[in-house]
Amino acid sequence: MSKPQTIVVLGAQWGDEGKGKICDYYAKDVDYVVRFQGGNNAGHTLVVNGEVHKLHLLPSGILHHNKRIVIGNGMVIDLKILLSEIEHYKNKGINPNLLISERAHVILPQHIISDGQTDEAKGKLAAGTTRRGVGPCYADKMKRVGLRIIDLLNKKNTLAQKIKKYVGDVSLELNQAINQGKKILFEGAQGTMLDIDHGVYPYTTSSNTTAGGVCTGTGISPKKIDKIIGVVKAYTSRVGQSPFPTEATKKDANYLRQKGNEYGTTTGRPRRCGWLDFVQLRYAQRINNFDCLAITKIDVLNGLKKIPICTKYRYKNKTITEMPADLEIFRQVKPVYEYLSGWPKTPFPHLPVNMKKYLQRIEKEMQVPIKLISLGADRKTTIQC
Ligand code: IMP
Repeated sequence: MSKPQTIVVLGAQWGDEGKGKICDYYAKDVDYVVRFQGGNNAGHTLVVNGEVHKLHLLPSGILHHNKRIVIGNGMVIDLKILLSEIEHYKNKGINPNLLISERAHVILPQHIISDGQTDEAKGKLAAGTTRRGVGPCYADKMKRVGLRIIDLLNKKNTLAQKIKKYVGDVSLELNQAINQGKKILFEGAQGTMLDIDHGVYPYTTSSNTTAGGVCTGTGISPKKIDKIIGVVKAYTSRVGQSPFPTEATKKDANYLRQKGNEYGTTTGRPRRCGWLDFVQLRYAQRINNFDCLAITKIDVLNGLKKIPICTKYRYKNKTITEMPADLEIFRQVKPVYEYLSGWPKTPFPHLPVNMKKYLQRIEKEMQVPIKLISLGADRKTTIQC
């Protein structure tokens, strides 16, 4: 393939794969960085020159000089949070070159209240939302009673007036940019298993986190997407509820959580941790058709003797190789593990032999090449293959 003009970066698991760092890596070579779904339920942590940045609404391009950053129509916006993020970067001397879709929906105070109430009322089916009002805002959008940025501007709303200069037609500008040969990075939030349609419903978020969401969330055609990169964390984590077949024992989960600093960027909640799940990852590959993979946080596995990878599930006496839609089945499946040999810590940028074998096993199973490996939080710890 000639050099891709449009690149999509997506989470292949349950979110928190380290997409922020991978987006930041690609952002340096593009003109636009675009978010297309979700809201401030997302949290991208980036470490640049030792400084930690936590982004919730603004695309990661904000940390690169002079990129056009875009909030697509598929996003839901809490204006107070957006204004405070803009203010935060202005105070650091960064004036965001920002475009916000006039069609994006606005999170209202009642959405935030109802988010908590609805989640609590759902009992065992509660996803454990981030309580940012994201689900109720999307629900109003689908019921066609929502308020879009353009509607608030027409109502002369004070907060909306403050962002007026950034508001415009995202689909028009992005399509023109593509025609002019500009490069665009589409930055996914959350992950494949949190997709409203393809995730573990109802333990999902409320938007399409998978490849199709790029088109509906920005107004560009699928024919305009050149390359899709799947971000796979070297193990699995999950914030909030849902069956999680490869969840590790308490001791192992604590180990991964401590070493991987697995605490929610948005809510600070400890993340549930477990092993790689090939049933889940093959599914992510099928839904998204990744062209290549970026593997993150593999350094967290340094020092383990054996590393389990789930290759299939057992359900009663049957073998299951595809993600079941039936929650009752998914709750009861048992992972079947293959054990790979671990490796000792090796000085960066050398990769231990067994780490390479672990990476090759992922490539073989997903039938996709690995192009990036991330061995730490800082920008400098990324290896291109
Ligand atoms: P909501 O998106 O706040 O409605 O939450 C729905 C589910 O998605 C909950 O289980 C959340 O923990 C999860 N979730 C939402 N955003 C993220 C994220 O950025 N990373 C990981 N999990 C998330």
